[in-house]
Amino acid sequence: PVIYAITPTYARPVQKAELTRLLHTLMLVPNLHWIIIEDAEVPSSLVANLLKNSGITYTHLTATTPKEWKLKEKESNWKKPRGVQQRNTALQWIRNNLKADDQGVIYFADDDNSYSLEVFDEMRDTQVVSVWPVGLAGGLMVEMPVLDPKTGHVKGWNSAWRPERPFPLDMAGFAINLSHFLKHTEAKFSFNVENGYQESEILRHLATRDQLEPKADNCTKVYVWHTRTEAPKLQAEKQLNKKGLKSHGGIEV
Ligand code: UGA
Ligand code: MN
Repeated sequence: PVIYAITPTYARPVQKAELTRLLHTLMLVPNLHWIIIEDAEVPSSLVANLLKNSGITYTHLTATTPKEWKLKEKESNWKKPRGVQQRNTALQWIRNNLKADDQGVIYFADDDNSYSLEVFDEMRDTQVVSVWPVGLAGGLMVEMPVLDPKTGHVKGWNSAWRPERPFPLDMAGFAINLSHFLKHTEAKFSFNVENGYQESEILRHLATRDQLEPKADNCTKVYVWHTRTEAPKLQAEKQLNKKGLKSHGGIEV
């Protein structure tokens, strides 16, 4: 099966660093198709050149976040969901371009997380929806499914943040079988759900808790981390900008 890794991304000082780190991980994964969606009106040359020079199999799309849903610079990040429009655009591309008998798996790989190659091995044989632990998520060292020792099925999660959610897990903690996804035409993300309910919103169309396939050694291993990158302090750059100068004139950073 081909892994379709879906990555929303947006312009900011750390963008090229984030995408280079993720690209160089994905380049080591066999049979992977990267769907990267810029939160922008038009594709940027930064992203286009990174992809073109990499040799990776990819689809480069754009989709802007509607103005009323775009986070303002100082606004705290729990107020509005991120990546909704971009992930839905990628899912629509999948519905338009792939067929029910194509062998594949869909994974939402945000540009700032840290991925071990093992997470891709684990998800590749997903039959419906597979799940596994995510490090540094939801205010915990690890947020993970809890298995019933008798049946081996998922009986809940150890989540501390909004544990009442139908699927209290992070975007990085599950994958979806492609043919299964194509059969469920309503499965997508939505702006009209409460904060933290994006994962539950798509999964409610795709699986019951009992159908989830636990991976990563019965959910005892951490192969992906919900890392978040600190915004760099660029005071000196701003001083230069005031004088009409840049440290990086002509250099892509
Ligand atoms: C958490 C989850 O890990 C995300 O999957 C989820 O989308 C998000 O919460 C949410 O509540 O919406 P967090 O680290 O806070 O993640 O979110 P970001 O990593 O900042 O954003 C998720 C993705 O959307 C990233 O790939 C980012 O590049 C992209 N994004 C972010 C945009 O495309 N546009 C934006 O304006 C902001
Ligand atoms: Mn993130």
